[in-house]
Amino acid sequence: MKIGIYPGSFDPITLGHLDIIIRASGLVDKLVIGVLRNNAKKPLFTAEERVEYIERVIRENTNLKSVEVIAFEGLLIEFARQQKASIIVRGLRAITDFEYELQIAQTNHKLDSKVDTIFFTTSVEYSYLSSSAVKEIASFGGDIQQFVPECIIQSVYDKYKSIRSV
Ligand code: PNS
Repeated sequence: MKIGIYPGSFDPITLGHLDIIIRASGLVDKLVIGVLRNNAKKPLFTAEERVEYIERVIRENTNLKSVEVIAFEGLLIEFARQQKASIIVRGLRAITDFEYELQIAQTNHKLDSKVDTIFFTTSVEYSYLSSSAVKEIASFGGDIQQFVPECIIQSVYDKYKSIRSV
């Protein structure tokens, strides 16, 4: 059974991530979406919220069955080993992503040569899209419906409402 890991912060999941999830699922028997629990990065959403949003998005937008969403901390390569994955999936939006991604892929391959990284070039319509842009737009009350799956839009706005009311 070929198992792939699609790791990321997913803070929050975007339509670009969903596109990669759907395309990568076709390559492997099981796709594990690894949600990085990294408080140093100061995510807007907790790891539990991000896992829940991804599960909701997959449930409401796809009929994928062999996808699991799991939060992880520490080294990605350790998580890949735990999950018995032989493939790490990452998306490349632009040449600016490449240098960073190449370095991480090569480091991970040095740490475990049985795990290979496969890059998906992001679909053109999402090549500009990032979770950071979504957060910036939402923080000012802007329209994010072209950027994130519909079923999580309200949750993103609610998060900013709850922050403002503290
Ligand atoms: O969505 P992101 O924030 O670009 O995802 C980055 C991620 C989670 C892939 C990367 O930060 C990661 O793998 N972190 C775990 C620590 C690790 O294994 N680093 C690679 C060795 S340099």
